[in-house]
Amino acid sequence: MEGMWNKLTWLSVVLSAAFLLLVRWRKGRNGSTRRKPPGPPGWPVIGNMLDLGAMPHQSLCSLRIKYGPVVWLRLGSVNTMVIQSAKAAAELFKNHDLPFSDRKVPVSFTALDYNQGALSLNNYGPYWRTLRRLYSTQLMVNKRINDTAALRQKCVDNMIKWIEEDARGSLARGGSGEVKISHFLFLMSFSLLGNLMLSRDLLDSQSEEGHEFFGATNKVMEWGGKPNVADFLPFLKWLDPLGIKRNMVRDMGRAMKVIEGFVKERMQERQLGRDKAEQDFLDALLDYRGEGKEEPDKISEKNAILAILEMFLAGSDTTSSTMEWTMAELLRNPKSMRKLKEELDHVIGPNRKVEESDINELPYLQAIVKEAFRLHPAAPLLLPRNTVQDTDYMGYFIPKDTQVFVNVWAIGRDQDSWDDPLSFKPERFLGSNIEYKGQHYELIPFGSGRRICVGYSLAHRVVQLGLATLLHSFDWELACNVPPENMDMTERMGITVRKLVPLTAIPKRRTV
Ligand code: HEM
Repeated sequence: MEGMWNKLTWLSVVLSAAFLLLVRWRKGRNGSTRRKPPGPPGWPVIGNMLDLGAMPHQSLCSLRIKYGPVVWLRLGSVNTMVIQSAKAAAELFKNHDLPFSDRKVPVSFTALDYNQGALSLNNYGPYWRTLRRLYSTQLMVNKRINDTAALRQKCVDNMIKWIEEDARGSLARGGSGEVKISHFLFLMSFSLLGNLMLSRDLLDSQSEEGHEFFGATNKVMEWGGKPNVADFLPFLKWLDPLGIKRNMVRDMGRAMKVIEGFVKERMQERQLGRDKAEQDFLDALLDYRGEGKEEPDKISEKNAILAILEMFLAGSDTTSSTMEWTMAELLRNPKSMRKLKEELDHVIGPNRKVEESDINELPYLQAIVKEAFRLHPAAPLLLPRNTVQDTDYMGYFIPKDTQVFVNVWAIGRDQDSWDDPLSFKPERFLGSNIEYKGQHYELIPFGSGRRICVGYSLAHRVVQLGLATLLHSFDWELACNVPPENMDMTERMGITVRKLVPLTAIPKRRTV
């Protein structure tokens, strides 16, 4: 059976290669070879797929030297433009945001029509606008975010408790008291989303559904982060040669089933008039009623389930990996760590906890977070955009249906924008007006323009509160006598870029 599949795969590769060559030859004859950006020559059929390597953002960054800040590639049959300077990004987001505002959807996320229910993968159109308005009122409006400050505080406090228990357990077993920081950061982000979206403590040890959902969501992220040849050679879509979509259907189905249970339960409670004091994201989805001609009357149950799932996929790994990288940089740069602790001691002191309202008084913390976003953007190529129509961009002809990567990792390390770009120097942001809200194109870890991250304000607060609390509560030491400057900072590509070796360190209590 497997032999037959292999033969079928090869047969389709050969037939499709011939077909693609024919199409390209016809296109060339039709004169549609107007000036495109420069780029490396590609192979027949696979084009430049091999140029991507295991860390596409790094490989693409190295193409900048030879081809400049706007690079053209053909990945299999997918036209792709890569943008790798602040100036080129500004030109895109300021002057051409609209024609570049569709998304390229990976095959894995077409499972169970996820792309049609999720904001992040919807094409720019009426349903995207409906969802965007709804999400924005829940995630971007300051009042709504202020109202949920207590939930964030609770989840960060829980994280500190879990870390302390884990370190104590390790010492009791004769260990060094070392904890895997990344694990607790992820748990905190995940449990916060459960509280904000569903008013549930999903990680409560009593919650069987919560644990099933946690396991399934982790698998969905694993499949979503796997490179998939079918994304570049569409004729392989139906074969699903790596089994990624099959696995995605299974695990996304598990996650959706759990959310379906929560949605049904909520609908029943609402029918019985048992409304909660605080409205959450699920309530907002169920309350939605469209008014305009283009808007749906309501969000269907399936789309409400997908919207909830999306929040976990978009908000947990991004937030926790950012915090992990920041902690790693602080452990590697003891001077910055010391300066931050001095700031915390001065503004907060030893007798109370950090609160969200303190963040404005902590300029060095803010500078540290900006520096971490510059060097370690969680989504180094943003979420791939796709062109809605033929477009003239910086003197080049960019055809409709071109995939666009904005390499914010490369922009963050670009000497034209930054002095000594590879060094971790938070001081560069002190007294500077650079923010990461999408207007300063040298620092756009959340993207920019119409499709800028809708969870920006939430992530901004969680990252700062979480980090300040970790540093205020504990002194952190590296175990196994690793000199800080030798810490392994190798990256691993998944749904976000994480540290290959998860960060571990020893916490020692210092304040309340
Ligand atoms: C440090 C944390 C985060 C980072 C670095 C991040 C980064 C990004 C990036 C780069 C994009 C694409 C922007 C573009 O195309 O211009 C994006 C989109 C998005 N993010 Fe985030 N994100 C974070 C946290 C969150 C959180 C907490 C949520 C929600 C709970 C969220 C929900 C979304 C959604 C729904 C979109 C799609 C927006 C659209 O397509 O209109 N993100 N994010």
